[in-house]
Amino acid sequence: MDARAVERALGGLRPAPRPFPPRCEDGRELCKRYMTAEKGCGLVDCPRAHVARNERPACPDHATYGHCARGRGCWLRHDVVPESAFGAGGVVLMADSESSLRHLGRCREILGADAVTVGGRTALGRRGVDVLLMISSGDACGTLRRLYEAEPHGMAKTRRTLAFPRDAPRASFVEDDEADAAMERWMETTMASMENDVGPDGRAYLRVRAAPKWLEKKIYGALDAIIERRGESLRVSPPGRGVSSRDCTHCLDAVSLYGRTFTSIWRTRGVYEDARGEETRSGFPEPDAPKLPKRGDATMDDLAFVYPLLLQDFRSDVRSSSCRAYFKLHEALLRAGVPVKDDWNCADIGAAPGGWTRTLGERVTSGVVWAIDPAELVLDPMPVNVKHLQVLAEDAVQTVREGLRATKTGELNLIVCDANMHPEACARIALEFAAKFASSKGESWLILSTKNFCKGTLKWLKAIDATMEMVRDAGYDEVFVRHLFSNCAEEKTLFARRLGKP
Ligand SMILES: C[S@@+](CC[C@H](N)C(=O)[O-])C[C@H]1O[C@@H](n2cnc3c(N)ncnc32)[C@H](O)[C@@H]1O
Ligand SMILES: [Zn+2]
Ligand SMILES: [Zn+2]
Repeated sequence: MDARAVERALGGLRPAPRPFPPRCEDGRELCKRYMTAEKGCGLVDCPRAHVARNERPACPDHATYGHCARGRGCWLRHDVVPESAFGAGGVVLMADSESSLRHLGRCREILGADAVTVGGRTALGRRGVDVLLMISSGDACGTLRRLYEAEPHGMAKTRRTLAFPRDAPRASFVEDDEADAAMERWMETTMASMENDVGPDGRAYLRVRAAPKWLEKKIYGALDAIIERRGESLRVSPPGRGVSSRDCTHCLDAVSLYGRTFTSIWRTRGVYEDARGEETRSGFPEPDAPKLPKRGDATMDDLAFVYPLLLQDFRSDVRSSSCRAYFKLHEALLRAGVPVKDDWNCADIGAAPGGWTRTLGERVTSGVVWAIDPAELVLDPMPVNVKHLQVLAEDAVQTVREGLRATKTGELNLIVCDANMHPEACARIALEFAAKFASSKGESWLILSTKNFCKGTLKWLKAIDATMEMVRDAGYDEVFVRHLFSNCAEEKTLFARRLGKP
């Protein structure tokens, strides 16, 4: 698939042009009886066109999203994705459709513009639909490490991380009449070899992770049939009866898109990467953030099953439940590479209830964080370096100025504002405040939320452009906007950097 096609598949759902009744190239209507009746049409002088499936028009849903609700009963042509699109294996990320383009953008930034070779949807509804991004890298472990390091927030927000390691048994099946039987045969042969690699009770346990849901059902059906046929002679079963998903000895990952199913069965305690190469640094700066085992020690389960869960837990622990905004600034600092030092002084305009203040308070230890908001801060304990000024931003200038004199650097390095208002209004407050402290020798940063307090998406996007212009005019050298995973659909984060005077 080319880059534009991947984007269309993952972007917003557009109703497919579905000319009905469908016609063939010369404009004649396709004969419904020919397409649906078992014995064909039978009319000698049928005025409608009898066209073989592979010569009919392409089904727009299947072609655009890799999924057609009519399945194999669809009258139109379903072109099958070639095996080579994911021949080398790699990783499949499953994510909610709302953040699909953010995932795509980040995969391209981190892994390269062509990294996502296939993209599609598990269903065509508007809500609760997941998207699938197939990253054909041939190096499942290395790909995962790079994503975890550069984008821990995004990876914590994937629903599933499916792995297709190069050295594990893999296969692909075209979804035709033979597919189910072929997949069952492949599973049976592979399961026979799994018996050499059993758990402490002398059995192997196979966890199944498949998308879309119907594929998971089909695989469990095949598993049941194999177990039934082989009876006690087969020492492989799905988890259950006291064996949890985490205890499984093997994992079957499978994904189906554009008429083809790709499968892989890997050993959960198997090490599929060699010990050489870069280690993964945690993208989270906190000392208690989850760490990945070293290369050569990390099992496939560590990389594709356990670590994403640890990231999720870390992100949804007490910190974020006390205030969801905490991780928004956390992600912002990481994403923009803001070089926060412990002696930086910061102003948080519109700080209540205090999520952002808390993020800043943890990062700067010898600097001061002025939390400016007429509303109460809910921070318990209140970090010692945080000073709450219970006033509007314009009334806080004098106090901050005086306070700065007592600090190590005397400079205000970072101003953030997350007020619930029109982006330009938010920028105006922050820029007026910033102008009073413009004499910085070192570099300084501004981070603003640009929320959709506009009438409509188009107006909002225009307002963001206008806000960027305002910030540039105020003398910032670099201005950029990012849609963070911690932002909701209707909110983006603006960054501005002013280089210091030497
Ligand atoms: C969405 S909340 C900020 C949430 C905060 N970032 C957090 O992490 O908890 C917006 C706050 O901006 C404050 N606010 C709005 N205009 C302000 C101004 N001119 N000066 C100071 N605070 C302001 C409001 O009182 C409100 O508490
Ligand atoms: Zn006919
Ligand atoms: Zn179709």
